[in-house]
Amino acid sequence: MTWSDPPDPRRTPPLEAAWAARERAHAPYSGFRVGASLRTEDGAVVAGCNVENASYPMCTCAERTALCAAVAQGLRPGGLVALAVVTEAEELTPPCGACRQVLAEFAEELPILLSNRRGRACHTLSALLPEAFRGRNFIPPP
Ligand code: THU
Repeated sequence: MTWSDPPDPRRTPPLEAAWAARERAHAPYSGFRVGASLRTEDGAVVAGCNVENASYPMCTCAERTALCAAVAQGLRPGGLVALAVVTEAEELTPPCGACRQVLAEFAEELPILLSNRRGRACHTLSALLPEAFRGRNFIPPP
């Protein structure tokens, strides 16, 4: 885990990127804005925000919009270093189950930093999603 620990948790580039992306969330139905950022092994920080839709099941979480953007920029499994998720909720906001599954495709041991205005916590994806279902569970080895 490579997060620095300044007194103001918004002062690290991944957190700044996540807070900035949160401002751009499209969340007219829930009003719940979420920002996320991914750091990739080449040092890039890729941000995402939740994008809601009048057809509610079509809503996409911030974690997945960040992941899709990173893949479009060249991310491949194994290339993720860390994820940050920020909201203004009283309690820290962990990734939903669907996002945990999608993230596990790329990094089972991914460090996940959760932050709000009051504090933060760090987890690993394997702790949030033990025994993740992966391609190796059904694709026979060559
Ligand atoms: N949401 C996220 O973007 N990430 C999470 O980790 C939890 C939930 C979004 C989805 C929806 O737009 C809103 O929060 C309310 O569920």
